Amino acid sequence: MALLLGDTVPNFTQESTDGPIDLYDFFGDGWGILFSHPADFTPVCTTELGAVAGLKEQFDKRNTKVIGLSVDDLASHRDWVKDIEETQNVKLNFPIIADADQKVANLYNMIQSEDNKMTVRSVFIIDPEKKLRLTITYPAATGRNFAEILRVLDSLQLTDGYKVATPANWRDGDDVIVLPAVSNEDADKLFPKGYETVRPYLRTTPQPNK
Ligand code: BEZ
Repeated sequence: MALLLGDTVPNFTQESTDGPIDLYDFFGDGWGILFSHPADFTPVCTTELGAVAGLKEQFDKRNTKVIGLSVDDLASHRDWVKDIEETQNVKLNFPIIADADQKVANLYNMIQSEDNKMTVRSVFIIDPEKKLRLTITYPAATGRNFAEILRVLDSLQLTDGYKVATPANWRDGDDVIVLPAVSNEDADKLFPKGYETVRPYLRTTPQPNK
């Protein structure tokens, strides 16, 4: 069955480049991102894993651990990591799951074609309660925009921490939207910088954590 937003994600143990991984233990009390790529030794994937390694400081700032996956085996992952590090000028600083038996890929529906047993480019953002908060799926030939994934993490963490939503094309530092479920009376207390009522259902306020 497909995983839906708000579901508790299934736990698993599987081999990885950092040894056997239990997903829940690996994410601990923080946020987590599980993402798959189609195959080792492919060009787009090589750039993607290099890009994710280069964002470690950004993920750390957001209390978020990342973990990659494909259905290649551990020996292949280990060989490929050397290429990623050499060509992308990074040290790989997160594990890659070696899902050769497709256990995790099937659990998370990462294989989407009978003809092609490679995993698609899936992303799962998982919150500290192990609830699924975002899924995106990209095709094999399109590398992901990891700045967008950081932007969504920021939005999710703002929603949880401050009862705000983020508008279209929001960027860190822009005004945000008071959640419709918050009454004006509560908004007066929650948003000391004030808020503008554009419509009763559309109230904007400066980003609270700035
Ligand atoms: C790539 O990572 O470059 C790739 C993988 C599978 C199909 C097409 C491109």
